[in-house]
Amino acid sequence: MTNRNDAPATGAVPLVNVPGSSAKKHEVPDLAQPEFPPVAQDPQWYRTAVFYEVLTHSFKDSNNDGVGDFEGLRSKLDYLAWLGVDALWIPPFYPSPMRDGGYDISDFMDVDPRYGTLEDFKRLVADAHERHIRIIVDMVLNHTSDQHPWFQSSRNDPSGPYGDFYVWRSRPSEYLDARIIFIDTEDSNWSFDPVRGEYYWHRFFDHQPDLNFENPAVREAVKNVIRYWCDIGVDGIRLDAIPYLFEEDGTNCENLPATHEFIADLREMIDDEYPGTMMIAEANQPPHEVVAYFGTDARPECHVCFHFPIMPKIFAALREESSRGIRESMAETPPLPKGGQWGTFLRNHDELTLEMVTDEERADMYGWYAPEDRMRANVGIRRRLMPLLRGSRREVELANALLLSLPGSPFLYYGDELGMGDDIWLSDRNGVRTPMQWDDSPGAGFSSAAAEDFYLPVISQGPYAPNAINVEESRSRPTSMLNWMRAMLKMRKRYPAFGLGSMTLLNSSDDAVLAYLRRDEQTTILCVNNLSTASRSATIDLPGMSGWHLTDVASGNPFPSVSEEETIDITLSRHAFYWLEVTFLEDEEEDE
Ligand code: BGC
Repeated sequence: MTNRNDAPATGAVPLVNVPGSSAKKHEVPDLAQPEFPPVAQDPQWYRTAVFYEVLTHSFKDSNNDGVGDFEGLRSKLDYLAWLGVDALWIPPFYPSPMRDGGYDISDFMDVDPRYGTLEDFKRLVADAHERHIRIIVDMVLNHTSDQHPWFQSSRNDPSGPYGDFYVWRSRPSEYLDARIIFIDTEDSNWSFDPVRGEYYWHRFFDHQPDLNFENPAVREAVKNVIRYWCDIGVDGIRLDAIPYLFEEDGTNCENLPATHEFIADLREMIDDEYPGTMMIAEANQPPHEVVAYFGTDARPECHVCFHFPIMPKIFAALREESSRGIRESMAETPPLPKGGQWGTFLRNHDELTLEMVTDEERADMYGWYAPEDRMRANVGIRRRLMPLLRGSRREVELANALLLSLPGSPFLYYGDELGMGDDIWLSDRNGVRTPMQWDDSPGAGFSSAAAEDFYLPVISQGPYAPNAINVEESRSRPTSMLNWMRAMLKMRKRYPAFGLGSMTLLNSSDDAVLAYLRRDEQTTILCVNNLSTASRSATIDLPGMSGWHLTDVASGNPFPSVSEEETIDITLSRHAFYWLEVTFLEDEEEDE
């Protein structure tokens, strides 16, 4: 099972100078780098941006101690600019006991010394900005590590200034309707603290006590944390786990009005004090609940909300060979308020979460994608994109084509642009967090520390080892996944309609062929995707577009125009897709 020699899918593949092919015909025009618009001039930059999630500890180690760091990441900014990334989402890099990949923060206002110094971080921000790349930091508001001085003070000194910073009770009898999120490890959201002799509330691990947002001092402390990072010059904040900030007995303690009120306050503060800085909501909730995190025109909340429900539907569609799930999910997606944008993704540093699907769909997903127990975690699947899709380059390309053409701004996960693999033998979600593979050396060009010092081991054997998958080799091979991905990002960038435009699902005579229009004032793109493992021919309805011309965006080749019956007939090989620009040539109409 190697993806290295797997032929790329046909269809709208923007080939880059493949030997023997007509280079001219397939060439994707190299766009001049756009000017980096100051945020003030382009306050909605995030609506057309491509985001890239990068784990500092796993990307590049500059001092060869086995842990990736800011200087390492800074040294790879040129690579990220070359790839076509507009913004980096950097998961928590603050001091942490690292019992939850850094989401267990023990000091919100510093950087973990393993990653470098605050000065290094500031240099990273400045250098990223020079390359037109924006920086989004991750902010865990809901909880801290139990090692945080606030918690230590709270447990030791109940009547002191931090005594009420956490949710303490003498008996664990409240909020029993709240579900347990980490069902693998936790059996209650309450844990007993022998020091204070009381129970504390936690929605995640028992070493991550929830902050008490009822306490105004907590709300102010959290705002000050955000001010601190905004002062340093970051461009946005990902708000981790926001549905759980407040609790209320008799509810599931998620998405409560008080939580929304606080997020809206935060937005007001950001708009007043740091205009242009964006907020991203991580709310793993059904679409009608998520959409509330955009807020209203009068009380805006977040600029971007992750679209959790569509993600598993993309994977299910590939196995069901049916567009039904994606169509239903899009139909259930409420319209976005002005200035809002969905954040879409295929994979990230967590498990591929299956919280938003039915029991039956979950069983199917496990059967298809996680047949072995160790491929599962919590309510989800802990695998990277390429191995998840059985090393099939065609499937990975189609999944990415959907990601890049469905409504939303795509969030890529480091290494997936290469087709990196995972290590299901590592604990928790570490299997998808292994070092970035830069070259074919034993340390993968990530670090030359001794193997036992690596924060997480490099995938050492098999089709995903660095000698098979690495940046250096991929960059030099025109048909690589990496070059394909880069060409796709360029192609997407040519059409702001993908970020800003409307989406209209179209009738297709074949349920395995998913077709939709993306449209803004300038452009109309018809996206057609064959979800099947076999070639398919379908008739697509294009109401009101009789005579309109179609041009393949990848190759520039014309396709037959829309018929008088307002349809097109299209044939696609297995897992192929097309992005076709649809134009109405007025002059020609007049000549006729
Ligand atoms: C992060 C996880 C983390 C959890 C608890 C999440 O939403 O994405 O990686 O384990 O918050 O901190």
